[in-house]
Amino acid sequence: MKGQVSDNGITAESFDAIAQLAYRESGLQLAVEKTSMIQSRLRHRLRALNIPDFEDYSAFVCSEAGRQERRHMISALTTNVSHFFREKHHFDVLSQALKQKMLPDLRAGKKVRIWSAGASNGQEALSIAMTLLQVDPAVSDFDVRILATDIDANVIKFANEARYPERLTSGIPNHDLDRYFSKEVEGPESFYYPNKALKDLITFRELNLLSSWPMKQKMDVIFCRNVVIYFDLKTQNNLWPRFHNILKSDGYLFLGHSERIAEPEVAGFRTSGPTTYRPVSA
Ligand SMILES: C[S@@+](CC[C@H](N)C(=O)[O-])C[C@H]1O[C@@H](n2cnc3c(N)ncnc32)[C@H](O)[C@@H]1O
Repeated sequence: MKGQVSDNGITAESFDAIAQLAYRESGLQLAVEKTSMIQSRLRHRLRALNIPDFEDYSAFVCSEAGRQERRHMISALTTNVSHFFREKHHFDVLSQALKQKMLPDLRAGKKVRIWSAGASNGQEALSIAMTLLQVDPAVSDFDVRILATDIDANVIKFANEARYPERLTSGIPNHDLDRYFSKEVEGPESFYYPNKALKDLITFRELNLLSSWPMKQKMDVIFCRNVVIYFDLKTQNNLWPRFHNILKSDGYLFLGHSERIAEPEVAGFRTSGPTTYRPVSA
């Protein structure tokens, strides 16, 4: 079947090779029970490369020549589902913290930095930006930035293009859609474009959480939600102290609803609400 894309399933050896590579490159854990989902996510990569089966694909992607393909593979394997104002309670905490601490800090000439780590298509970062503008419509006059990063180049491209089909905007209250987005009807679909005030607050960048982080400023708030659920405990436990180091001593770390820090005190955190952590010093 060389030269053709066959319907061959993946062998245990090829699955192991791909799973080990995905783990090394990104921390993603590929469970054997999800084999058919993983095959279907990767099948378009085989087609794109005209590779006939998973054995040849795993050999290629693990080889030196497969360096570029590794990025496509990780992109195909990541789960990018996100929503605007997902887990609304975190935005309520953010809003309170902005009013009580960050806005006074900004007015006193300090910087505020918020990180959406594992930002996917940008809905989380835009929800943060809307929260900032709701608290103070003139917030952009101050030194406040949202950094939104993801390992997947495709979602970063989508977030930079910022063209949201109507079905992706369901979490945004109508008055905020009217206030912060412009609508364009394109054929049978409507698309929403965030306005300049929102977009100017955010910088989108490709960044692997497992690699070194180039940021020099400490963060006031880190959103890392629905990301570590795909990591094993060892990878998670390596991440917490790194978040602690880059977070201001009175900052906030928000995780997803099914994520938790196993031993918060070991990493210097304390629980401060549902899936909300603060440095013990806060
Ligand atoms: C399910 S989405 C979560 C999006 C958003 N945080 C939310 O809660 O709606 C998970 C995102 O984490 C990203 N991701 C997975 N592994 C990563 C890694 N090692 N470094 C950075 N981002 C990663 C994926 O590409 C994906 O876009």
